[in-house]
Amino acid sequence: MTNERWCAVDDYFTRTIVGEDRALEAALAANAAAGLPDIGVSAPLGKLLHLLARMAGARKALEIGTLGGYSSIWIARALPPDGKLITLEANEKHAATARENIARANLSEKAEVRIGCALDSLSKIEAEGLAPFGFVFIDADKSNNAKYLSWAMRLSRPGTAIVVDNVVRDGAIIRKTASSPDVVGVRCMFDLIAQQPRLSATAIQTVGGKGWDGFLLAVVV
Ligand code: SAH
Ligand code: DHB
Ligand code: MG
Repeated sequence: MTNERWCAVDDYFTRTIVGEDRALEAALAANAAAGLPDIGVSAPLGKLLHLLARMAGARKALEIGTLGGYSSIWIARALPPDGKLITLEANEKHAATARENIARANLSEKAEVRIGCALDSLSKIEAEGLAPFGFVFIDADKSNNAKYLSWAMRLSRPGTAIVVDNVVRDGAIIRKTASSPDVVGVRCMFDLIAQQPRLSATAIQTVGGKGWDGFLLAVVV
């Protein structure tokens, strides 16, 4: 199997059942035009985030790693009319592009992009009393994944669904010699979850237009 065929199958799912619309397509086009890296979730995975947020009954959602807001749009659309997504982004250009994409999707009321290092923003969110969040998507610098997971739990309630992107990376997670901060960060998060009775978790490998990767799904018990 090749990336090309994985990509074609993702396209088939997207055309038939996923329902990617003009605002989402426009966000991808605007991201490319602004020179943002093409590292956002696929359409089928974006729809999965949307469905999980709905299934969890989330009214408030938190995203760590906005990029151009493609995944933010999928998540914000899962929330009820009075719902709120807070999405955290360190890069000003990414955040500015995301705000434009979110506005084009008519979601400016529902989705707030906060600029800054996520760890700083998370402290502020706690201090402002914005928790608990019913859905959390972790998709920023992988080296901090264990810290982000601890924050996600701290800002959660029983029933909160937590998704972490990019936990497989071509199998790097189990490569013995892999010592990059990203891989160390992801493994550290797995060790944390393994010892954490408040979380029930699994991880699923995926193939698609972006190769072989996977995501982690956990629920707060
Ligand atoms: N969730 C997006 C993709 C996010 S890519 C989507 O699927 O559409 C990861 C993003 O995390 C990048 O935009 C990067 O600038 C941001 N990021 C990296 N380190 C960060 C940090 N410490 N704090 C906040 N954002 C960070
Ligand atoms: C990268 C980050 C992501 O969130 C992703 O989905 C793919 C790649 C990266 O930093 O390379
Ligand atoms: Mg990702």
